[in-house]
Amino acid sequence: MANAKITGVGRYIPEKVLDNAYFESIVDTNDEWITRRTGIKERHVSAPDEYTTDMATKAAERAIKDAGITAEDLDLIILGSVTPDYFTPAGACVVQANLGAVNAAAFDFNSACTGFITGLTIAKQFIENGTYKNILVICADVLSKATDYADRSTCILFGDAAGAAVVSASEETGIITTEIGADGTGALALTQLAYRDDEEELEKRVSKNKETIWMAGQAVMKFAVKAMADASQKVLDNAGLTYDDIALVIPHQANYRIVDAAIKRMGITQDKVFLNLEKFGNTSASCIPSSLSQAVEQGRVKNGDKIILVGFGGGLTWGAALLEW
Ligand code: COA
Repeated sequence: MANAKITGVGRYIPEKVLDNAYFESIVDTNDEWITRRTGIKERHVSAPDEYTTDMATKAAERAIKDAGITAEDLDLIILGSVTPDYFTPAGACVVQANLGAVNAAAFDFNSACTGFITGLTIAKQFIENGTYKNILVICADVLSKATDYADRSTCILFGDAAGAAVVSASEETGIITTEIGADGTGALALTQLAYRDDEEELEKRVSKNKETIWMAGQAVMKFAVKAMADASQKVLDNAGLTYDDIALVIPHQANYRIVDAAIKRMGITQDKVFLNLEKFGNTSASCIPSSLSQAVEQGRVKNGDKIILVGFGGGLTWGAALLEW
């Protein structure tokens, strides 16, 4: 049986930056509150005419180059996003055409900010059962286009980004194990309406704009800390390892306080954790793959290192992946 291994990573971060001073100018907030309560200083946002598949394509091109393959070598492209260009076609099909990945099947999936872990889990199955050899997992979101800029409790949190990884069949150890989970009883803690007419949901939104994200911040925060620590412990247990064996943990970064509480619960120190939310905010499912690509570039992940990727998100969902690099 072939192992599934990440052989290339790439990211795309849009150019425009919104700093905390910008939010002081549009809602009743201040840099001190945002910094102390979230750890975020800046986020990047897409241009008005820049969409999920545009960013996904750029991240994908970089991951393919990094893997040393061509677009024709891809057997499958999967895209996780909560801000698709279209309900149909799937964004993955648009990216397939953009790349000229003529041999690849393509579909989208949605597990919100847990997307990259879900994507790796899907890719691992197809590689290990021998169906495919090269799979492109992309996560991309333009959360700025779904943000309620009248709601000070959420608008300060979100940024846009895309991250991608090529997962290939390999003789080397790669994705050792993954763990994903969901608790739909918490589904309405984080919502973005599509066709459903729901007056109650609409009323929650400060702008009354149904296309925006609404979130019960405190409830999500409480869920997130335990979900991340538990998922991370599960993959360690599955592999018979402990945190002493782990070189780096890359968590989903929604709020510094969540990450800090989660790593305390894991019993690890911050030097083992990759953090960049100060500069990017919460970029949904793109957060983990774009952080992974930065961590590799900065030499924080080296050949042979064992690392944990761990996230949580709307659904509510959670997941962790244990990899050998
Ligand atoms: N500036 C100033 N004050 C703000 C504010 C802002 N940007 N946003 C909220 N407040 C106020 C609230 O109105 C409230 O005031 P009140 O006490 O007078 O009612 C007070 O700050 C505390 O609000 P609360 O919602 O309890 O704050 P919090 O400590 O929970 O922080 C979040 C709010 C949203 C930052 C935090 O809950 C969070 O990060 N949650 C999880 C987010 C997340 O992970 N989402 C994505 C999932 S992938």
